[in-house]
Amino acid sequence: MSALPSVSSLAGPELVDFRRRLEARLEQAVSFADGSSGRRGRETLQAGGKRLRPLLVYLSSPLAGRGAPDLERGAAAVELVHMASLVHDDVLDRAALRRGLPTVWATHGDAVATATGDYLFARAFAVLAETGNAPASALLADCALALSRGEALQKLQARRPETTPAEYLARCTLKTGALFATACVLGARLGGASDPGTVAALHDYGRSLGLAFQVADDVLDCDGTPEATGKALGTDLIDGTPTLPLLLAARDDRVVAAALRHGVRPADVLGVLHRVGATGALEAARAEAYRHVRAAEAALERLGDDFDLPALGAVAHGVVNRDS
Ligand code: FPP
Ligand code: MG
Repeated sequence: MSALPSVSSLAGPELVDFRRRLEARLEQAVSFADGSSGRRGRETLQAGGKRLRPLLVYLSSPLAGRGAPDLERGAAAVELVHMASLVHDDVLDRAALRRGLPTVWATHGDAVATATGDYLFARAFAVLAETGNAPASALLADCALALSRGEALQKLQARRPETTPAEYLARCTLKTGALFATACVLGARLGGASDPGTVAALHDYGRSLGLAFQVADDVLDCDGTPEATGKALGTDLIDGTPTLPLLLAARDDRVVAAALRHGVRPADVLGVLHRVGATGALEAARAEAYRHVRAAEAALERLGDDFDLPALGAVAHGVVNRDS
């Protein structure tokens, strides 16, 4: 397993060049301010990341539109929103580790982490505004609202092991599916696609991909290795967040249900995660992730051959077949 699929269509010189230009734009965007937020923003960027959402922007462009500078701006904007949302998410989740490094929240506390997320969020819209494309900015604004609603829903569902798979998927559609879908739609539009059916297919592909990604992420929170994920194991269990593997396991195991509802002592986390595995919930959740991969593949069948369909298909499998 790996961080991202390494098929030849994803390793060509054009994509390498796009990634280099993207990093330069991101660096420029976070270097806007030189105070605390600017420094923390640069550190957040330097911590790295898979750059999966910018990849989706690039691959969702028609082949002929890939050189458009606005595509890079759209890619940088979605990555900045992603970075901002993770900095804020680590405040809400009280998460100590991200990408193998202490989080902004763990090092600097609530106020600095909130301000850093706000800064990155503002920079995202500034970069996108350079395109002069008002519908693109409106799209990203709608998406940011969806992220916030998803995170609010997660708070409402916290410590409720009776949360249903449908309620879980509704929250994941908002907190993760929306940004994946937006990355794809921005890529399509900024790369010159205008056919509504094409844009809708890429939206649906991205949303399904986001769901597959989030379910896989939630499985990794139960059985991943912190060395690979760069995150602490069992954060969702400790926070009482009913992810798909946890809520499915809670249906079969009263100890898991009680840990989700009432909390778990640090010394008991690994034991409860072991019980989650013993219920078969991890396999059931992985099967659900693959259902969304297949839905993403089905959406690709609605696209013409002016897109890199093999690469889009490889990414769909890569988001679930990963260890980090
Ligand atoms: C990670 O989830 C977090 C998200 C997918 C979205 C976070 C959104 C917000 C905090 C609200 C909106 C913020 C902005 C700036 C628009 P996770 O906790 O399941 O993943 P993790 O294990 O990587 O932390
Ligand atoms: Mg989190």
